Amino acid sequence: MLPKKVEKILNDQIQKEDYSSQLYLSMASWAENKGFEGVSSWLYAQAEEERLHMLKFVKYVNDRDGVAVIPGLDTPPAGFGDVFEMFDKVLAHEKFISGSINEIVAACISENDFTTQNWIQWFVTEQIEEEASVKTIIDKLNLLGKNNLYMFDRDIMSMRGGGGAAPAV
Ligand code: FEO
Repeated sequence: MLPKKVEKILNDQIQKEDYSSQLYLSMASWAENKGFEGVSSWLYAQAEEERLHMLKFVKYVNDRDGVAVIPGLDTPPAGFGDVFEMFDKVLAHEKFISGSINEIVAACISENDFTTQNWIQWFVTEQIEEEASVKTIIDKLNLLGKNNLYMFDRDIMSMRGGGGAAPAV
């Protein structure tokens, strides 16, 4: 049985993962309309991955006799400046998600919920990989510079690392 405090923070995370999926879907659509085929493919794949993260939380809460609450959709922003600004926003968002995963770990410890603390470790590792993967992309983007965006767009899908693996729900 999940402690109520843990059930609540896991439900909050369901909303955050769902929003992550919507945010990256909006970025994918924005990039597609700007002609960045590779960047949009990366973001569409990222949006799917975030949806799988959300499902992983839903299944876990229900499996532990909690009640997973499916959130309504928050409208994400529709404009992202340029590709450089957009990836800075992706990294900032992933850092925000890492912070909220850490808060779940803290809640598990304060409630002596060592089962959830063990389960959430997958996400702790995933966030290390996701942040590293986006940082690598930003480094590559800065190396190539704005005159080589065609090359960046062509190659970005080959930069999907281990963090891109879809988790089992
Ligand atoms: Fe599900 Fe990218 O955090």
